[in-house]
Amino acid sequence: MVAAGGGAALFWAVAVVYAAIGGKPHLSGIDCDTCHLSGKEVRPEQASKLVASQEALCGRCHPDALRLSHPSGFVPKAALPGEYPPDWKGDLTCSTCHRIHGTEPGLPRGGKRGKKMCLACHDVIFFNNMKDQGGSIEQSGHLTAGIKLGNVELDPYSLQCMGCHGGQADAAGVSVGRDGILRHASGSANHPIGKRYRESLKSGGFHPENRLSKKILLPDGKISCVSCHQAYRKEHGKLVISNRGSALCFECHDL
Ligand code: HEC
Ligand code: HEC
Ligand code: HEC
Ligand code: HEC
Ligand code: HEC
Ligand code: HEC
Ligand code: HEC
Repeated sequence: MVAAGGGAALFWAVAVVYAAIGGKPHLSGIDCDTCHLSGKEVRPEQASKLVASQEALCGRCHPDALRLSHPSGFVPKAALPGEYPPDWKGDLTCSTCHRIHGTEPGLPRGGKRGKKMCLACHDVIFFNNMKDQGGSIEQSGHLTAGIKLGNVELDPYSLQCMGCHGGQADAAGVSVGRDGILRHASGSANHPIGKRYRESLKSGGFHPENRLSKKILLPDGKISCVSCHQAYRKEHGKLVISNRGSALCFECHDL
């Protein structure tokens, strides 16, 4: 759903000092015409004319906002509420949820935060139908977590999963030992986690990284919950690809 493209690539070579959030507006230190077609002087009425999609323009500096995130860069089937406007081509995009040149942390648009913001567009039932009632996603439009690493060097996504699945003694419980081995409550697919894939490659028995399905993510190069499970999806926790005949396992393992 993410629109690719670009055309402003040349400009990005110019290093600029960025304004910190909380003081000057976001992007006020960047040449306006790297994004706006309107040249140096951008008036609000022509500000929507941009040289590329926001997914491309913003993704240069915020690549994480494009993965394990709310879909962006598509025309929604139903009209959006007035406080969350689409861009000129009708796309739900970054500026639908963000006030691009705002100063508030997180650059939120409108007055709603957290789940209230999600419910401006989605029905309660949309979240109630999810295994976790939307608990894993409704704080933000993205799964990036600011959690510090503990003893086991897990990537931030896995830490976020463990925030709920870690303490659980029931069927959805998952534990990660100091040995770096993750154990599912069901006993299936126990697996090393937090290991760097590239380092394991050296010992043989694995496909090179460029041969892996694009759906298998290795955040920070490491094996993560999101290497095997989908995140930021309606189907909470579904495997990234079917494991029929151990297909998921053989994506990486070359036995
Ligand atoms: C990284 C890309 C980018 C840069 C650089 C940028 N803008 Fe914007 N700007 C946007 C986007 C995206 C919007 C929202 C467009 C929309 O609503 O369709 C926007 C909106 C605006 C608006 C409309 C009102 C508002 O605040 O939303 C103004 C005015 C504006 N920009 C001025 C500027 C000026 C002046 C500069 C240079 C100092 C600048 N912009 C630099 C991306 C950028
Ligand atoms: C459906 C709404 C939505 C869309 C679309 C969206 N965001 Fe967000 N984004 C949020 C919310 C909500 C937050 C959390 C804001 C807060 O901290 O209060 C957030 C936070 C962020 C952050 C802060 C750090 C982080 O990762 O949590 C960045 C950077 C960001 N968004 C960039 C983007 C970019 C770039 C796009 C377009 C590709 C985008 N967002 C599209 C809702 C959205
Ligand atoms: C040239 C690099 C650059 C581009 C392009 C860029 N940003 Fe940012 N953005 C930054 C920096 C730097 C910060 C400040 C981070 C900080 O101070 O923590 C920031 C902060 C943010 C935040 C708030 C993060 C927070 O934790 O409060 C959001 C949301 C965000 N950007 C969204 C966008 C969107 C949407 C676009 C596209 C219109 C965009 N950015 C384009 C560099 C960029
Ligand atoms: C501006 C309107 C708007 C807001 C605000 C919004 N969404 Fe969405 N969201 C949509 C639209 C439109 C779609 C795509 C079609 C659909 O499923 O309704 C979508 C799709 C999704 C999907 C489906 C992704 C997939 O492909 O499985 C999830 C999950 C989601 N939103 C969660 C959230 C969460 C969590 C929030 C609050 C942080 C939120 N949304 C805020 C409009 C919005
Ligand atoms: C806010 C809490 C929360 C977070 C964060 C969370 N989950 Fe869940 N998850 C749940 C709940 C609740 C269930 C349903 C448990 C049940 O059915 O007994 C669940 C169920 C699951 C299931 C089983 C799905 C099925 O079909 O039975 C998987 C797999 C899963 N989660 C993976 C993940 C992964 C991977 C992450 C991180 C990307 C994650 N979860 C983050 C709360 C959470
Ligand atoms: C190497 C791949 C892999 C990794 C890494 C992985 N899982 Fe799983 N997970 C699976 C498979 C396979 C199943 C069984 C799914 C099925 O049978 O549909 C599963 C099942 C689950 C279930 C359902 C309950 C159960 O015990 O079977 C939960 C919850 C879960 N995983 C959470 C996580 C969390 C949280 C992480 C990260 C800490 C994680 N998984 C990492 C492959 C993986
Ligand atoms: C994302 C790639 C990837 C996927 C998918 C994957 N594995 Fe692995 N697996 C690895 C890597 C890399 C190692 C070696 C980690 C290390 O260096 O300790 C490993 C190690 C193992 C080990 C430990 C072997 C040993 O002797 O240390 C077992 C058992 C295993 N995997 C089983 C599975 C099963 C079963 C599945 C499918 C449910 C699976 N793996 C899916 C990458 C993957």
